[in-house]
Amino acid sequence: MKFTESPVIELPVGTSVLSLQQDNGSMHVGTSVWPCSLLLVKFLDRWAPLPPPENPYSHLLAFRSKRAVELGTGCGVAGMGLYLLGLTDIILTDISPVMPALKRNLKVNKRVLGKNLKHSVLYWNNIDQIRALNPPFDFVIATDVVYIEESVGALVSAMEALVADDGVVLLGYQVRSPEAHKRFWELCGEVFEIEKVPHEHLHPEYAYEEADVFIFKKKNNKQ
Ligand SMILES: C[S@@+](CC[C@H](N)C(=O)[O-])C[C@H]1O[C@@H](n2cnc3c(N)ncnc32)[C@H](O)[C@@H]1O
Repeated sequence: MKFTESPVIELPVGTSVLSLQQDNGSMHVGTSVWPCSLLLVKFLDRWAPLPPPENPYSHLLAFRSKRAVELGTGCGVAGMGLYLLGLTDIILTDISPVMPALKRNLKVNKRVLGKNLKHSVLYWNNIDQIRALNPPFDFVIATDVVYIEESVGALVSAMEALVADDGVVLLGYQVRSPEAHKRFWELCGEVFEIEKVPHEHLHPEYAYEEADVFIFKKKNNKQ
């Protein structure tokens, strides 16, 4: 898998560099850094310095006063990267067994981030945990989270429950399972308007053929 073989990955974001520590031998996939997380962060990092009208994504980068949650954060790459780009009110979530890897990465990067980012246990099928986060959020972030067919329904429901009617889901995506892929896009098509970022708009050093960035907005609430 691209980018992820080394136990430590250095990711430049803006004027900072995140250091990502992973345990590729663990039985939990969240203790490795998955390349779609790098793709999503570097897509926004590429466009962040450009003002409108040259920047077609300036609306996505208007992070001031916005609330965000990341689903299946793993080592926390996407959440930490977007935090450095200005999305400062963000909570990173994952299942309990992944929390040690997340906390380790938050600690390692505390100096770069300037603080310990908010994090919480969230299983996508746990309505009480979803409610406890106090939705709606302006941004729901997720990267490389579609790989188990059985959990796809809960994932899409969690996205729908968490994102505001005028909010945005930012998704870094690669096909990991044909069954999960099919089910995910069927369900998303019922709930969201889906925009795919053209490949030439991704960061040239981090883009690769199999991966994409998608922008979802709730149907009937497209802005
Ligand atoms: C392939 S990893 C991606 C991790 C990270 N987003 C990245 O791109 O590096 C998938 C993540 O989704 C989380 N996940 C899987 N099923 C979940 C569920 N039902 N509820 C919450 N998180 C889940 C896993 O624990 C894991 O951290």
